[in-house]
Amino acid sequence: MRKIDIFDTTLRDGEQSAGINLNTQEKLEIARQLEKYGVTIIEAGFPASSPGDFDAVKQIADTVRNSIVTGLARALESDILTSWEALKGGVQPHLHTFIATSPIHMQYKLKMTEEQVIETAVESVKLARKHFPLVQWSAEDASRSDKDFLVRIITEVIKAGATTINIPDTVGYATPKEYGALFKFISENVNGIEKVKLSAHCHDDLGLATANTLAAIENGASQIEGTINGIGERAGNVALEEIAVALHIRKDFYQAETGIVLKETKRSSQLVSKLTGFVVQNNKAIVGKNAFAHESGIHQDGMLKNPETYEIITPELIGDATTELVLGKHSGRHAFANRAIEMGFQLSDDKLKSAFVEFKKLADRKKEITDDDLFVLLTEQQVNS
Ligand code: KIV
Ligand code: ZN
Repeated sequence: MRKIDIFDTTLRDGEQSAGINLNTQEKLEIARQLEKYGVTIIEAGFPASSPGDFDAVKQIADTVRNSIVTGLARALESDILTSWEALKGGVQPHLHTFIATSPIHMQYKLKMTEEQVIETAVESVKLARKHFPLVQWSAEDASRSDKDFLVRIITEVIKAGATTINIPDTVGYATPKEYGALFKFISENVNGIEKVKLSAHCHDDLGLATANTLAAIENGASQIEGTINGIGERAGNVALEEIAVALHIRKDFYQAETGIVLKETKRSSQLVSKLTGFVVQNNKAIVGKNAFAHESGIHQDGMLKNPETYEIITPELIGDATTELVLGKHSGRHAFANRAIEMGFQLSDDKLKSAFVEFKKLADRKKEITDDDLFVLLTEQQVNS
């Protein structure tokens, strides 16, 4: 089994979502839950961005003991030194520094040549390594960068002391095949790559973040970055719970383990949703309200005979309550009869048949039939018998 490290950036990239603002107490509460969830690294924030973020990162670094705590820094001396002050109390102080490497970012945003970008990246990593034992360097917008330039700059930052190299799909532009090929190309062409961890960081602009992250794992990534519930800039980052559960359920294929405590998944999702105010959509993979709900008669019948017919993940695995057979207009007689028995009704076949007819009429008017509705309907049949 390969070990895939999980780098959680809920508190940094996730908090960069428009509309999210967490205070120090809220960040600490999430960090403690992430520690329980078993993430390898918690990116607690961007210490140089504001006094509030500095304070939150410092408190998290000083508190969390079972995960490595990191913070983001631009390739600037002041960012790196400020980050050191925030992070030095961590179990293994870790810095995440970055600079953009794509032509569009270098020309318009940085206004720097390739050579200047290499020199700045090397200097920032050297400075960071004077303080931090662990330094991750990211090539922002890597998926739209020139591959040969990436090989040159990565080779240099490894020589300067980087311990992890991150290849982000910053704007969610890559396809799984391309992103996987980029990891393969870097693994095969960068001198010294075997000495560092190779990390994937995917955004979901085209809805491909999960597929891209898995493609990176297949092609040499040993760390993946994402957020709880997939919150993050624009359409968000990859949802960590999706990767953790996919690697677990398809262990046969990926032969990898993450160290994630899967039964803490639902709790982590609910906490992040509550504190950010970002509601999880009903049909969200793994943690959505409907992820284990079955409505159609055919599916419910299959589930009652053998849950594996329509459920590849059990709710218990992720710490959720139980599978729900929702009664609605697509439900069948079998699920209806089953619920009647669960509710303590013992009706003759004829009564059950006419109760089912009444149920279908009601279901045409109401999307979801509650237990209260059923109670009234079944009681009427019992009284009339
Ligand atoms: O998406 C991105 O490129 C980032 C970097 C700072 C790693 O978040
Ligand atoms: Zn990002």
